[in-house]
Amino acid sequence: MSLLDQYLLWPELLREGFSRGLEKRVDVRRAERILVCGMGGSGAAGDLALLVARIYGSRVSIDVVKDFSVGFETRDYDLALAVSYSGNTIETISCLSEALAGGVKAAVLSSGGLLREIAERRGLPWIPLRSGLKPRAALPAMLGAILGVLASTDCLRLSEEEVESATARLERVSVEEARAYAEAIAESSIVTIASTRDVSALAERWRSEIAENSKKVAKVEVYPESAHNDLNSWLFFKAPASFIVIEGWSEYSREALRIASRVFKQVGRTLQVSVEKSLAGVLETSLLAGYSTVLAAQALGLDPAATPAIDAYRGELEKLWRARRSGL
Ligand code: PA5
Repeated sequence: MSLLDQYLLWPELLREGFSRGLEKRVDVRRAERILVCGMGGSGAAGDLALLVARIYGSRVSIDVVKDFSVGFETRDYDLALAVSYSGNTIETISCLSEALAGGVKAAVLSSGGLLREIAERRGLPWIPLRSGLKPRAALPAMLGAILGVLASTDCLRLSEEEVESATARLERVSVEEARAYAEAIAESSIVTIASTRDVSALAERWRSEIAENSKKVAKVEVYPESAHNDLNSWLFFKAPASFIVIEGWSEYSREALRIASRVFKQVGRTLQVSVEKSLAGVLETSLLAGYSTVLAAQALGLDPAATPAIDAYRGELEKLWRARRSGL
């Protein structure tokens, strides 16, 4: 299935992921701190779950770790969710191992792989994800499943109606809306995604989609902080640049971003993305990133699905890990 076709599956992936997370009945009663471990597209699901939890209100605090180690706070968590679409990401497996060694309850989300084997061996709840997709295109399945786990035990105030409404809205996002963003990405040496702090997780998602699908260098600037440093560089920049501006919901930060946008417009093409404060809004913006970056790759004659440097990194790391593995 082409990558574009995989993004077209988002409405059903969201619905499916949420109901799989709800059904699993992971025990998170009385939990206060939840850890989500994941890398790349799977880590992005953790970031967006945190953003959605902030929008709807959550009685638990959520930390997202994208590393080999959780760090010294491991034991303070009540539940660890190891999220890896392939189930074979070493950093995520390593974090899960550390959490289990620290006595933390855990559950696993994957389409299979080593994480599934570990879950079966250790008797951990395993939430299956539909297989055959690229991890970044499976985002709503993973986000939906995390939200389902949180909603099933009242950790998150998110209703099934809200998920249904997001599903309906995703069906209406058209590939055509993405054309202008795709052109801006394709014609630039560097793409800057400038956002307010409240929606910086979405800016990060755009950055990684541009890097993986369009194979372009992208950076994130978060306002107002970047007005005190990054903004200064643009008037001296000479290569073709474009800017994608994602406005969140905090009034002064939006003003800061508008002031910065006047500078961006002097340097290169500047396009706006507005985000509604809802699950639907978060996913619509993410889907627009998916469509835009696939179209940009196509315009450049590149395969949006191919990630040779990431594959080589993963291969090297796996060899190293297998040589040293302690046996989970
Ligand atoms: O989207 C991708 O292909 C990557 O960013 C992967 O998500 C990343 O390499 C981690 O792999 P996984 O999601 O299988 O844990």
